Amino acid sequence: MTAINLIAPKRKISDGFCVWLTGLPAAGKTTIAKALQTELEKRGRVVTMLDGDGAMRQVLSTGLGFTKDDRDLNVRRAGFVAGEVVRHGGAVICALVSPYADARGFVRRMIDTAFVEVYVQTPLHVCEKRDPKGLYRRARAGELEHMTGIDDPYEESDPHVLNLQIDGERPVEKNVCVIATYLENRGLLERVSNPAALMIGRYQPWHDGHRALFMQALEMEGYVVIGVRETYGLSDKNPFTFAEVKARIEESLSAFVGSFEIRRLPNITNIVYGRDVGYRITRVGLGPEIEGISATQIRSTLNVVGKPYGVEWKDQVRLSS
Ligand SMILES: Nc1ncnc2c1ncn2[C@@H]1O[C@H](COP(=O)(O)OP(=O)(O)OP(=O)(O)O)[C@@H](O)[C@H]1O
Ligand SMILES: [Mg+2]
Repeated sequence: MTAINLIAPKRKISDGFCVWLTGLPAAGKTTIAKALQTELEKRGRVVTMLDGDGAMRQVLSTGLGFTKDDRDLNVRRAGFVAGEVVRHGGAVICALVSPYADARGFVRRMIDTAFVEVYVQTPLHVCEKRDPKGLYRRARAGELEHMTGIDDPYEESDPHVLNLQIDGERPVEKNVCVIATYLENRGLLERVSNPAALMIGRYQPWHDGHRALFMQALEMEGYVVIGVRETYGLSDKNPFTFAEVKARIEESLSAFVGSFEIRRLPNITNIVYGRDVGYRITRVGLGPEIEGISATQIRSTLNVVGKPYGVEWKDQVRLSS
């Protein structure tokens, strides 16, 4: 292995970070990297992209092949450039197979807490089926050596150091949302202060009427916070736990992931406001049919007798109209 001696930057400039996407060829790294770039740019960040597919291999790592030594050097070069950008407060996305855990560890030590390793986990058979560059086919035919997943290994990181593992078969927007939220929670990315609507209710159970209201709220503000109140005791009026209510809502709104969040609230019994609060309170008319849906009535039809809290929502509550 080529010996190099890079000194880890001592000073961390808070704004900088490096999202390092690693995974098998065709796992979806470039696809996620591009969508994440768009999202970060929408939020006003300037993004440096170091993608193994692009100019990187042609310029930065020209002449390198795919042996372990060459791949590791490729990773260290990308890591060094990324570290420099991070030190100056920049956002960097790296999308490289980077199959060896020790080489990724080297970059992690260099970039320190601003390094976010994201493993794009896509099963080999899925990658092989995608095979947009025909590499798996060529490797299987014996025309290509050092193909990760075929005759070279992919080493997963120790789960204690890995920052995020994402499912490469999920829609790209969902993965971008997971990464952005992770960055926000780590304080590496500012939360967006976009408008949001708040719906407060018990949702015992969440039904079509709530969903219709959610759709209106989403249309009005683009993001919805669903506050679930009175979640602390189980009774005939509140037969479901917060976890059950939340799971039900998440299932009902699975097509809108990233456009809502569910918060557990105390038993809010009054909304009090003074002047100039900066928000509106809007009564939404949904028409007699939707407004006629009643959670009380639904509860009365649920088979809660003798099994009040473990009731199967799915079987008993109509979800969509
Ligand atoms: N979530 C997804 N669902 C379905 N197909 C996807 C998904 N993400 C990516 N793909 C498709 O899989 C193929 C490989 O994606 P991509 O080029 O992003 O992989 P990669 O990890 O960057 O691969 P490489 O290491 O070879 O650069 C592309 O054809 C892409 O359109
Ligand atoms: Mg790629």
